Amino acid sequence: MELIFEISKSGRRGFIPPKMDVKPYKLTSEYVRKNPPKLPEITEGEVVRHYTNLSRLNYAVDTGFYPLGSCTMKYNPKLNEKVASLSGFSEIHPYQNPETVQGAMELMYELGESLKKISGMDAITLQPAAGAHGEYTGIAIIRKYHRDRGDFSRDEIIVPDSAHGTNPASSAMNGFKVVVIKSNDRGMVDPEELKKAVGPHTAGMMLTNPNTLGIFEERILEISRIVHGAGGLMYYDGANLNAIMGQIRLGDLGFDVAHFNLHKTFSTPHGMGGPGSGPIAVKSFLADFLPVPTVLKKGEKYVFDFSHEKTIGKVRSFYGNFSVLVKAYAYILVMGEEGIKRASSMAVLNANYLKAKISKILKVPYNDRCMHEFVASTINLQDKGVKALDFVKRMLDYGIHPPTVYFPPIVHEDIMVEPTETESKYTLDRFVEIVEKIVKEADENPDLLKDAPHDTPVRRLNDTQAARHPVLRWKEN
Ligand SMILES: Cc1ncc(COP(=O)(O)O)c(C=O)c1O
Repeated sequence: MELIFEISKSGRRGFIPPKMDVKPYKLTSEYVRKNPPKLPEITEGEVVRHYTNLSRLNYAVDTGFYPLGSCTMKYNPKLNEKVASLSGFSEIHPYQNPETVQGAMELMYELGESLKKISGMDAITLQPAAGAHGEYTGIAIIRKYHRDRGDFSRDEIIVPDSAHGTNPASSAMNGFKVVVIKSNDRGMVDPEELKKAVGPHTAGMMLTNPNTLGIFEERILEISRIVHGAGGLMYYDGANLNAIMGQIRLGDLGFDVAHFNLHKTFSTPHGMGGPGSGPIAVKSFLADFLPVPTVLKKGEKYVFDFSHEKTIGKVRSFYGNFSVLVKAYAYILVMGEEGIKRASSMAVLNANYLKAKISKILKVPYNDRCMHEFVASTINLQDKGVKALDFVKRMLDYGIHPPTVYFPPIVHEDIMVEPTETESKYTLDRFVEIVEKIVKEADENPDLLKDAPHDTPVRRLNDTQAARHPVLRWKEN
């Protein structure tokens, strides 16, 4: 596709400003350009077409199935966008007097109350801007909690080997050593391994449940008891909350700190770097460590509370990604308690339906009942020289977004599929047909997969070059 600079033709206009009706003002020469800016010259219609065509090169959850494991790419109701764009939400400023933004503060307060209820926790901050940011904030709280008790020896965070990379990263960024424990042959944390890992150095454990294999950690109460017994705290990575929301509460499972990925579980468009929101909730004994300010209700008024004496400080400007908070709250209100419970049931049902079908085509290493996602492997196609990456790139030619690959790292050539509750049986069946077709192609013509994708706006990209050598600006030859 041509760049907007390439379709530009000298003299074309998209906008004609009204005739000037004020006296001209002569700038001093230091402020006057020597040369006019090199802006593209095109008509209004061409601008609209250019950007519309550009947007159509993107793959999106609104254009096709997006079974990206661990990312919960569900349908985002358009109503949420409408609500977030209401002027009372979109045209206010964080420096406004709180008296004039009581509605927005009520929304933040009520969203916090809903998330506390869903999670069974006691206090909350809406500040963190993503799941990983929530992790960082939660682990900073755990660190400060131990120091506040005068315990400086706890310098280790335990994570299972199935953990998402952000878990060890947020622990390390808080100065902790990361202790990795091996999962058992059912893909779960082995309490016996955990017992060997805990001790006077344990500050806490980070866990997502269901874990990244889509398996519910059935011995979670025992796990929490072991960590607590050693003096550590339990951190819940909320990326997989979509599987259990409305069914069980994190507080009841023994977690002390938890983050929510509002942009996953509570339906905000995400991907490509944002916007996200990763509130964290804590048990009451950690409430004083939360970032400031939090929102309180005093009588009929909502106020910002800066009174936390042990606060870890602020982790983001102002109060969080406000438009995401609005969308999440709209979603929660529309769904209601029953709807939220039904959503997680449907997410689990869809994943199990798909797993049952896919396990007849590809290897599924952990084939117990899954939660909202499952991991399959293309290892059996290895003798054709086909890798998981080739397999999922070929899906793009059939109009499907590739599932997550090579994560969790404990399964070889894995693809991680999360269908979500918003997909129909028709879409799931079509996915199965396509997987079947690609397995056949791998057998008959493996090069078709190795060179895939064939029909996308750009072919296979270098995985890392865009990050290492970004080209962010057009330069005239
Ligand atoms: C299991 C798990 N934990 C944490 C995260 C980090 O969340 P975020 O992308 O919102 O920073 C992810 C993201 O995919 C995840 O899958």
